[in-house]
Amino acid sequence: MKNLLIANFKSHKISSEIKDWLAKVDKAAVLKKGISVALPFPYFYLAQDLQNLALAAQNVSPFPPGSYTGEVNIQQLKDFDIKTCIIGHSERRKCFRETNQRVLNKADLLLANDIQPIVCVNDKNYRTQLAVFPQKTRNSCFYAYEPQSSIGTGESADPESVEKMANFIQEETTPNQTVLYGGSVDHTNADSYLLLPSISGLLVGSESLEAISFINLLEKTQNEELA
Ligand code: PGA
Repeated sequence: MKNLLIANFKSHKISSEIKDWLAKVDKAAVLKKGISVALPFPYFYLAQDLQNLALAAQNVSPFPPGSYTGEVNIQQLKDFDIKTCIIGHSERRKCFRETNQRVLNKADLLLANDIQPIVCVNDKNYRTQLAVFPQKTRNSCFYAYEPQSSIGTGESADPESVEKMANFIQEETTPNQTVLYGGSVDHTNADSYLLLPSISGLLVGSESLEAISFINLLEKTQNEELA
């Protein structure tokens, strides 16, 4: 699919705000495909009755169910019928010191449980980030290319460099691999990425937080030509 759009809420919002957002965006997403929202874990239950949006996860524990205080495990994701999980986001690599090996452990666990991992990689380290991944795992993951300088900065990457990086990622994995772009995506630049031959969708942080901005982005991007 060409137009996967994932709203990444990160650690934002409380239940009343999320309820309001879900009601508005779910309605606006009628007849659209491939749109997910990665909510903070405590609010997964609010997404039970969505008609048009899918619920995604922002992370998963690399451990099985058990004594791992503070972790949310794979069975708990399955309990909410999660089909997609972001892993290795640069904020997790930086703030929680997630190693490439740990990201690989999560990818393997997700794949073994039929949940699609979306592995975030950046411009400077993508080769090292993928080096520990055996080829079979590499080929089965989806990727989000997120240049460090564009995350939450308002400085989106130029589309030419995004296409080049998506090609590099595909060379490291498999041709036509699903690669999303993330980093200061908004309604004015979303199309410039979605129209790139090697980009299959977008991971949207800041611009997804207000329902009105995300709906605007959906309306600007979700059309027949891009489907
Ligand atoms: P941003 O975040 O859209 O706010 O740059 C993207 C991300 O980190 O996934």
